[in-house]
Amino acid sequence: MTMTVEKLAPAIGAEIHGLDIGQQEDAATFERLHEALMEHQVIFLRDQTLSVDQHMSLARRFGVPLYSKKLKMYGNAYDSMSLLENDGTKIAVGSVWHADNTDFEEPPMGALLYCEVAPSVGGDTIFASMYAAYEALNEATRAYLDKLTALHDNSNVSRRYAGQDILRDSAMAVPAAVEHPVVHRHPVTGRKALFVNSNYTMRLVGLSDTESHHLLQMLFDHIRRPEFQVRFRWKANSLAIWDNRCTQHYALDDYNELRRMRRVQIAGTRPRA
Ligand code: SIN
Repeated sequence: MTMTVEKLAPAIGAEIHGLDIGQQEDAATFERLHEALMEHQVIFLRDQTLSVDQHMSLARRFGVPLYSKKLKMYGNAYDSMSLLENDGTKIAVGSVWHADNTDFEEPPMGALLYCEVAPSVGGDTIFASMYAAYEALNEATRAYLDKLTALHDNSNVSRRYAGQDILRDSAMAVPAAVEHPVVHRHPVTGRKALFVNSNYTMRLVGLSDTESHHLLQMLFDHIRRPEFQVRFRWKANSLAIWDNRCTQHYALDDYNELRRMRRVQIAGTRPRA
């Protein structure tokens, strides 16, 4: 079979056809898959039978799997694999616009999320392009944002999921905030992307409280524009792979049947302006 790429929306997202991703694809095919990810920012594959070991092996081809610091583990043998399981009785993990773990000095480069059980309806994930969000801003606004940095921390996450049996106990601690550029340059594509999100970004450095609050709020509103998005409806055996450096996502909290996912994040590097 030959790999083909079907673009799903103008700004972001593509479905990959013609791959049995659990089998070790040759280097040239993997290179094309990686190129598709760099171009489309999130890629989706359906009807993939992916064992836990195959999921881990695939993750390793993208980089170093990140030790899962926050979410419950999938099993003791897989310290980098998080279990996201919910039947609607808990707050859905990720049901706020965010990039993953920007409270880390080196936020993840990306993640591979595989669906074991999907609700019959609901539980979709929406992804948004932070390239498109940045490029849609007025030139003067872009020039101003290019010079700013922001503080990111874990306090919203700890508050939001307190008592939900979703996070590891250590995730409730709130380490010191980390500072990242508001706009960073993607280390592979060289494109600029907005790098603030409503989950982790707490404050713009050097601005008054009022200025920081309103400017961040404007950016959080801007990021939510549907033109920057693609929405994925999960079925069992679907896989999403996203580039966390140029996207944000929102997991819909609108179901009351079992949704069971496993996620591996890939280590990233420090964002640079
Ligand atoms: C996440 O935010 O990583 C979870 C996304 C999802 O479950 O759809």
